[in-house]
Amino acid sequence: MLNINFLKELAGDSLAVEYHPKITSTNDRALEMARAGMADGQLIVAEHQINGRGRRGNSWQSAAGGSLLCSLLLRSASPLPVHHLAIISGVGCANALNEIGFPVKIKWPNDLMLADRKVAGILVETHGDAVVIGIGVNYALNEDFFSEDVRNRAISLNSHADLLPEREMVITKIALGLQQTMRKVESGGIIKILLEWNKMNWLARRKVRVCGPFGEVDGDGLFLDGRSLHFHVFKDHGVVTMPLSSTVEAK
Ligand code: BTN
Repeated sequence: MLNINFLKELAGDSLAVEYHPKITSTNDRALEMARAGMADGQLIVAEHQINGRGRRGNSWQSAAGGSLLCSLLLRSASPLPVHHLAIISGVGCANALNEIGFPVKIKWPNDLMLADRKVAGILVETHGDAVVIGIGVNYALNEDFFSEDVRNRAISLNSHADLLPEREMVITKIALGLQQTMRKVESGGIIKILLEWNKMNWLARRKVRVCGPFGEVDGDGLFLDGRSLHFHVFKDHGVVTMPLSSTVEAK
């Protein structure tokens, strides 16, 4: 069980923590708070989710005690496109995990990869000026927890470290990191964050298929271009430029 007092202590004044032993989805709860007009900095944490949601309509599987589940409600002064929010949340979360000893990389747009397997997923949703960032981290899950179709693509933090940092610490580190990353973008723009994304880009030199509105490109990696806010896909010793709204698949 999470120690809620310890969690609140670590979160300090920057975050208001709401804890649920069991909930439908922490993102659903954060969106409800957004609609009710609650302020920036609400952090909803759950031990167990009945209907955890992933990107693209997928469900998010978790186990009480083995998964970290939380959603952060932020309010942004200037509305940002959803692709930017995805990049910002990936970078904020990845930096937080790197700082506590997990060398994660980011698979477009914001899957967090540890030892080339997915260790955490992020679901960003918006309501007006509210941004809800839901994070699910595989913390202490055995390999047989994962269904066969994802088993060789998923990993949990405990496979990487004998001694895990406390769950409360990981959650607050991520939430505070996300809040700071969002503030950095609000005051200084997104360019620096795009550069950070590129440094942690898991697809930099991997075979990819990028499908955009005007066709698809099979390439040998990609990176984000900070000026044009497009992808550059490596192809036959050159690059092909594709919009960020493209879908990207690792091959
Ligand atoms: C993905 O990779 O598909 C995104 C997964 C996001 C899962 C988290 S768990 C906490 C929060 N609540 C949800 O219902 N989803 C997110």
